[in-house]
Amino acid sequence: MRLALLGCGTVGSEVVRLLHTQAADLAARIGAPLEIAGIAVRRVGRDRGDLPVDPALFTTDPLGLIKRDDVDVVVEVVGGIEPARSWLVEALRAGKSVVTANKALLAEDGAALHDAAAEGGADLYYEASVAGAIPLLRPLRESLHGDRINRVTGIVNGTTNFILSAMDATGAGFAEALDEATELGYAEADPTADVEGFDAAAKAAILASLAFHTRVTAADVHREGITEVTVADMASAKAMGCTIKLLCIAARGTDAAGGETVSVRVHPAMIPLTHPLASVGDAFNAVFVEAEAAGQLMFYGRGAGGAPTASAVLGDVVAVARNRLAGAYAASESAYADLSVRPMGEALTRYHISLDVVDRPGVLQAVAGVFARHDVSIATVRQGPAGGGPAGRGEDADLVIVTHVAPDAALAATVGELRGLDIVRSVASVLRVEGGA
Ligand code: NDP
Ligand code: HSE
Repeated sequence: MRLALLGCGTVGSEVVRLLHTQAADLAARIGAPLEIAGIAVRRVGRDRGDLPVDPALFTTDPLGLIKRDDVDVVVEVVGGIEPARSWLVEALRAGKSVVTANKALLAEDGAALHDAAAEGGADLYYEASVAGAIPLLRPLRESLHGDRINRVTGIVNGTTNFILSAMDATGAGFAEALDEATELGYAEADPTADVEGFDAAAKAAILASLAFHTRVTAADVHREGITEVTVADMASAKAMGCTIKLLCIAARGTDAAGGETVSVRVHPAMIPLTHPLASVGDAFNAVFVEAEAAGQLMFYGRGAGGAPTASAVLGDVVAVARNRLAGAYAASESAYADLSVRPMGEALTRYHISLDVVDRPGVLQAVAGVFARHDVSIATVRQGPAGGGPAGRGEDADLVIVTHVAPDAALAATVGELRGLDIVRSVASVLRVEGGA
């Protein structure tokens, strides 16, 4: 069984190491030895340390490598949309099975890959693309295929989980926690994809597509990052017995006509400390799946890093290699449900709103009136002196309001109107609340 490896960076180099150290076991499990036919990289001359591989295998011609007759399986760990899409479509159409960790491509244009796999009669496996080492996509795609999944809630980005966990544990601000994540090698030099939620949104699209048998792309996902989460937000969460996590939430729903829909969103949210995802610290990932018959399931582990991700890649390599030896390939994409994606405004959620208001008679009534006008029910109200200073008439006051569940559009309109009131000095923060807090 001969592999073309595209990419030999953080993940690819660990794939090479595992192929080397586990060679005998992998051969026994597959029923044939696995050999690297070639490794496509950008810079052939790059110093790759003590990588256990023949330097003559490196090439800068990925297409040439893919097209070779002696290549059975293509492993892509380069990333990005193009040229990766063209390479993988070429491989799949030629009947070569593909294993990829490329979440950005799968979320942007997974359909092109699935169509090419169906056309070529080849396998397309991508376990490593979501939540690194955690076996998650195979359970969704195979083990839970007899069940009906209603909701998937996850922490699927390690960098942001590290930052939020540090803010929670030490009281650090976002910038300070990001610096620590960068120093420890969690955050990349350009952390935009992680902290602005793009990485989590791509993973959310992949999860929703598999869980609900429909096509969801990154563009369908409502996305907000964690750059606006403040020390005060974290303190407020703590005061409520909560913490703040960047969540990906994919849920079934129904539209006004009773048609089935799906909503997919990524944003920071308060969750109660009793929620299973609250204790997921450091750079770990976890995904909570709610299915009709199976009930609640939780998947937990390392969502990033060379070796953990390579473990998922190798698991896929074994599966596709075994399929090829058996002259078979796995069932193609299941997207029969064709659900429409619900706009974020219709998503049902709760808000935690911190206001700095003028402290005088009638203010609470005016604020409550705004909520009532938008049909948003208030669950709790907490008032204290502004900035924690001594309370007294004529000074400002902090008002913390938590709502019951309402459509996101109604909540957003409420906040919009509050911002326009002259008794409201400022809307200090708005955070969604999830998980029964
Ligand atoms: P790296 O940037 O570390 O490695 C990328 C590799 O691709 C390098 O070997 C590079 O060559 C090669 N490459 C880049 N452009 C080209 C090109 N045009 N032609 C040929 N080779 C090219 O990326 P990672 O290993 O971190 O990530 C790889 C994939 O895995 C991405 O899709 C990522 O999203 C995904 N992933 C990564 C995780 C992680 O923790 N790192 C976790 C889960 C998924 P050279 O070595 O010469 O620079
Ligand atoms: N940047 C990603 C993270 C890598 O922090 O989780 C894994 O996809």
